[in-house]
Amino acid sequence: MLCHLTGMSVIQLPLLGQFLILLLAGNLLAQGTHPVSGRRIAPVMGYEGADWLERAERESEENPGRALQLLKFQPGMTVADIGAGSGYYAVRIAERVGPTGKVYANDIQPEMLSILRRQVRQRKLENVEAVQGTEKDPKLPANCCDAILMVDVYHEFSQPQEMLQRLKAALKDDGRLILLEYRKEDPYVPIRPEHKMSIKEVKLEVEAEGFRLAQVLHDLPWQHILIFRKK
Ligand SMILES: C[S@@+](CC[C@H](N)C(=O)[O-])C[C@H]1O[C@@H](n2cnc3c(N)ncnc32)[C@H](O)[C@@H]1O
Repeated sequence: MLCHLTGMSVIQLPLLGQFLILLLAGNLLAQGTHPVSGRRIAPVMGYEGADWLERAERESEENPGRALQLLKFQPGMTVADIGAGSGYYAVRIAERVGPTGKVYANDIQPEMLSILRRQVRQRKLENVEAVQGTEKDPKLPANCCDAILMVDVYHEFSQPQEMLQRLKAALKDDGRLILLEYRKEDPYVPIRPEHKMSIKEVKLEVEAEGFRLAQVLHDLPWQHILIFRKK
């Protein structure tokens, strides 16, 4: 798995080796297919992989700094980071939206949220609320968010239709639903197929739940950025 992810050996990269084990373990719990697209749903990445999410080379491999620039989160905005994991994106968004803004950092794994809370404390951020959701419900207030972000998460949802319906209720009418997904169309993106999505698949699945694809950004090395609006 990690050989697909990096093109390097697991022995060379111990953190990625951990990630390999996690994903292989997760495969044992693999969860079926999406009823509209037939896409195979990926296993959830375990909290033991948090170090991989925080790896130093993430910036050069995935360019999250560029993603944040492109997404133009402004001071005062309320943003939900769904499947926030260790909080890599959530803390950076919190710095951008500032004390007048807010970040809901959601995940289903309490252990991920503990790691995230530690990062929030270390950075002395007071505008991040950690929210433990369920596989069907992100537990966000209705109409709360100017933007809802999912970075390498949507393909893991075991109940993607229910989640999108709940996220629609949490998104303001003029808000953006934003997905970053590894490009399935590109065989050189070194990620296993079930952890990648094509634009066609994302559009089909997300538009079926009452959104329209408004924009696709192609600037990142490995990921599509797909921006949806409510229909
Ligand atoms: C690959 S990690 C990505 C973490 C983070 N977005 C990042 O890019 O650093 C996927 C995360 O999604 C979470 N996840 C999976 N299904 C979820 C769901 N239904 N609701 C919320 N989080 C979910 C997992 O627990 C895991 O922390």
